Amino acid sequence: MKVIETVREMQAFSESMRMEGKKIALVPTMGYLHEGHLSLMREGRKRGNCLIISIYVNPTQFGPAEDLDKYPRDFERDEALARNVGVDVIFYPSNEEMYPEHYQTYVNVEEVTDNLCGLSRPGHFRGVTTVCAKLFNMTKPNVTIFGQKDFQQLVTIKRMVTDLNMDLEVVGLPTVREHDGLAMSSRNTYLKEDERESALSLSRSLKLAKELYDAGERSAAEIISKMTAFIEEHPHTDIDYIKICDTTTMKDVQTIERESVVALAVRVGLPRLIDNYVFGEPLNI
Ligand code: PAJ
Repeated sequence: MKVIETVREMQAFSESMRMEGKKIALVPTMGYLHEGHLSLMREGRKRGNCLIISIYVNPTQFGPAEDLDKYPRDFERDEALARNVGVDVIFYPSNEEMYPEHYQTYVNVEEVTDNLCGLSRPGHFRGVTTVCAKLFNMTKPNVTIFGQKDFQQLVTIKRMVTDLNMDLEVVGLPTVREHDGLAMSSRNTYLKEDERESALSLSRSLKLAKELYDAGERSAAEIISKMTAFIEEHPHTDIDYIKICDTTTMKDVQTIERESVVALAVRVGLPRLIDNYVFGEPLNI
């Protein structure tokens, strides 16, 4: 396994792989890897014969009051985990490589980023799409794998790739959870012991939403109000949003008719956690 730190070397390596006729799979990450990330890498291993992951905590997707400086990092541990799943290259650039002096170009996907995390984290998706567009240009992937845990991010990346005619396939994979249902996240490490129990209210509220839907409930307001009441019973929780949206437009729906997702963001102690469930799909809790 190689670790590449410069854009020039990354592009040269990817170009040589392409010349050899290899299919490049890319898994972009911010590191502090967990089983969720590893599931994407295993899929990448299957879909390509050159597997690249990136580890880069991207400053442009963090707001001024967010956890950029505190975001957990452990490169040595990540390296060992990546080696174990058969990663060929870790692309590990510095901020100077990614955003050199005079940097001024950004990619902005419009409507699908207006709602949900786009409302609470202004500029967040502009940072995500910019860094992903750059990573695609640096690693030249044929296929890239993202998690459905960040549902709006996945929709946004697919939109960008389609709209800008980027010549690669975007694959979305289901959320990997802890044994008790908590969606895996690098930010779970911030949870104190008593907050860990409250954090389970997110996935349990999704289970409640699924049960209501399966019993025939189609009113978004009804489902949201029951989820809200359920989460508010738990200490240390502060709901940012709970919304039900059309999976194509990401606009709120009143009645669940077409494919819809219930997405929520809740602060539990320090970390702001997110989770979601697409109605009609299985929920592994
Ligand atoms: P990060 O939070 O490190 O996540 C990297 C990838 O892992 C994303 O596609 C995310 O959806 C996926 N992922 C995270 N938790 C998961 C889980 N429990 N199950 C399945 N997949 C999971 O998302 C980012 O980084 C950044 O925004 C990035 C795309 C790298 C751009 O900076």
